[in-house]
Amino acid sequence: MERLHSLSITSRFLSLHRLILISLFIAAATANKSTITADQDALLALKAHITHDPTNFLAKNWNTSTPVCNWTGVTCDVHSHRVTVLNISRLNLTGTIPSQLGNLSSLQSLNLSFNRLSGSIPSAIFTTYTLKYVNFRENRLSGAFPSFIFNKSSSKHLDFSYNTLSGEIPANICSNLPFLEYISLSQNMFHGGIPSALSKCTYLQILGLSFNDFSGAIPKEIGNLTKLQELYLGRNRLQGEIPRELSNLAELELMWLSENELQGGIPQDLGNLAKLKMLQLSQNNLTGTIPSQLGNLSSLQSLNLSFNRLSGSIPSTTFTTYTLKFVGLRGNQLSGAFPFFIFNKSSLQDLDLSDNALSGEIPANICSSLPFLEYISLSQNMFHGGIPSALSKCTYLQILGLSFNDFSGSIPKEIGNLTKLQELYLGRNRLQGEIPRELSNLAELELMWLSENELQGMIINFLQFYSSSACFCIHSFVH
Ligand SMILES: *[C@@H]1O[C@H](CO)[C@@H](O)[C@H](O)[C@H]1NC(C)=O
Ligand SMILES: *[C@@H]1O[C@H](CO)[C@@H](O)[C@H](O)[C@H]1NC(C)=O
Ligand SMILES: *[C@@H]1O[C@H](CO)[C@@H](O)[C@H](O)[C@H]1NC(C)=O
Ligand SMILES: *[C@@H]1O[C@H](CO)[C@@H](O)[C@H](O)[C@H]1NC(C)=O
Ligand SMILES: *[C@@H]1O[C@H](CO)[C@@H](O)[C@H](O)[C@H]1NC(C)=O
Ligand SMILES: *[C@@H]1O[C@H](CO)[C@@H](O)[C@H](O)[C@H]1NC(C)=O
Ligand SMILES: *[C@@H]1O[C@H](CO)[C@@H](O)[C@H](O)[C@H]1NC(C)=O
Ligand SMILES: *[C@@H]1O[C@H](CO)[C@@H](O)[C@H](O)[C@H]1NC(C)=O
Ligand SMILES: *[C@@H]1O[C@H](CO)[C@@H](O)[C@H](O)[C@H]1NC(C)=O
Ligand SMILES: *[C@@H]1O[C@H](CO)[C@@H](O)[C@H](O)[C@H]1NC(C)=O
Ligand SMILES: *[C@@H]1O[C@H](CO)[C@@H](O)[C@H](O)[C@H]1NC(C)=O
Ligand SMILES: *[C@@H]1O[C@H](CO)[C@@H](O)[C@H](O)[C@H]1NC(C)=O
Repeated sequence: MERLHSLSITSRFLSLHRLILISLFIAAATANKSTITADQDALLALKAHITHDPTNFLAKNWNTSTPVCNWTGVTCDVHSHRVTVLNISRLNLTGTIPSQLGNLSSLQSLNLSFNRLSGSIPSAIFTTYTLKYVNFRENRLSGAFPSFIFNKSSSKHLDFSYNTLSGEIPANICSNLPFLEYISLSQNMFHGGIPSALSKCTYLQILGLSFNDFSGAIPKEIGNLTKLQELYLGRNRLQGEIPRELSNLAELELMWLSENELQGGIPQDLGNLAKLKMLQLSQNNLTGTIPSQLGNLSSLQSLNLSFNRLSGSIPSTTFTTYTLKFVGLRGNQLSGAFPFFIFNKSSLQDLDLSDNALSGEIPANICSSLPFLEYISLSQNMFHGGIPSALSKCTYLQILGLSFNDFSGSIPKEIGNLTKLQELYLGRNRLQGEIPRELSNLAELELMWLSENELQGMIINFLQFYSSSACFCIHSFVH
């Protein structure tokens, strides 16, 4: 009896327990159901804001007869069934972004890139604390940087590039976005200064601000971003000097400061950037000489200092770097001889020295030092001497520019061996003798400029070797 009683209590207790469990489960399920419904409503709000969907992507895939988590472009957490990823890039969607997207409170990744979305970026989106990745690249978004809304956002990756956003970068950007690793505002209409407090985004690896209207100086505090790998500041109106503190960026692989109004010299200490692959300083107003320390950039592949006001001779240590492929020094005031000899089987493919005041001769063994040359321009300098026949050993050569110099002697017939040659500029020199008929072997040649020399003889059936679309820059061919 006693035992029976206790058994029945136990069983009553058990069923009560089960009941509680079941009702808890129902409560949990309804709670989840309501948050899932909120996710569905947010996405349907987005669908309603799309005015043109050329592939009918949303019409075909997003409807209430299938669960949100099955919609194309949507990924959910397997346990909570909450939307964590929304990726509807490259669909040419026209429309606006509704603030309801901020209701996706488990969203981690939002990719709306490569569409035609317009209007402003709703601040509500960034109230989602879980959001780490945001990509709005290549849309038609306008308005200001939605900064005021970030309340210690956990975002690491923000790509707003290729839109028509305007306004300034808020000075406190890093208080709101302390975890940023990647930010690109490139190709917009932002203006104002680059805030020095950007240096407080200590995790920053990639900073893209190019193709905007930023002005003022490059803050030296940028040099504190010890994790920075890529710095894009080109095509703005930045002034002042290149801060020497940038040489502290030990992880930097790419520095693009071209097309600004930067002045002063190139800091010698930039030679410390052991990981730098690309240094682009062209189209500024830089003065002084090329620091020999640039030769310490042992990872450098591309160096562009063209269109500045650099002067003096080119230090022979500058181009010893074995990895160099592209060197542009065009449009400066560089003088003296070019240190061709320092190249010891260089990997250089592209060398533009045009429009300077360089002198000296082309060494006969140039192609032993530079066997991989595809493009070389020495035009508009003061080079003299003959064109070495051994130039024909640069078998990859596509463009050869020697015009506007003081070259003399004849055109070596071996030039006809350069089977890849597309453009040959020898005009405005003191070349003599006949035009070698071997030039007619240049099957790829599209442009030949031999004008303003002292060449003699007949034009030997050249025309038959060129297609009608090619450029015949052979007027005033024979003097
Ligand atoms: C609803 O979307 C699913 C795919 O998510 C699709 O298979 C189905 O045809 C759609 N239904 C309607 C009525 O559009
Ligand atoms: C949704 O996706 C799940 C898992 O892929 C699948 O089991 C289920 O049948 C789908 N539901 C509908 C209505 O398509
Ligand atoms: C309900 O949501 C919570 C938190 O969002 C989650 O931990 C739980 O696993 C979910 N329950 C069900 C049954 O999906
Ligand atoms: C997002 O969508 C694009 C275009 O469909 C695709 O290339 C990319 O791999 C997707 N990303 C992820 C993480 O699924
Ligand atoms: C976002 O979309 C772009 C373009 O389709 C794609 O290249 C990129 O990988 C996507 N990113 C993610 C995290 O899905
Ligand atoms: C988007 O538009 C571009 C240019 O009009 C087109 O090349 C591309 O195929 C379109 N993509 C889709 C998914 O419709
Ligand atoms: C969704 O977002 C809108 C606008 O941000 C807000 O007014 C609404 O209350 C939200 N709805 C839910 C269910 O959270
Ligand atoms: C920012 O966060 C604080 C503390 O978490 C909170 O009190 C405040 O309301 C938030 N502000 C906004 C605009 O969300
Ligand atoms: C940041 O850089 C500035 C100037 O280069 C320097 O004075 C300052 O101490 C640095 N701050 C930190 C936190 O490293
Ligand atoms: C370059 O500097 C010179 C002299 O300081 C100045 O006259 C000129 O306007 C500057 N050019 C540019 C494009 O900033
Ligand atoms: C850097 O370059 C200078 C001048 O070319 C040279 O004297 C110095 O030894 C180099 N330093 C390193 C670390 O290579
Ligand atoms: C180069 O051209 C010269 C003269 O046109 C010819 O004799 C020679 O065999 C050629 N050399 C090669 C390697 O093609």
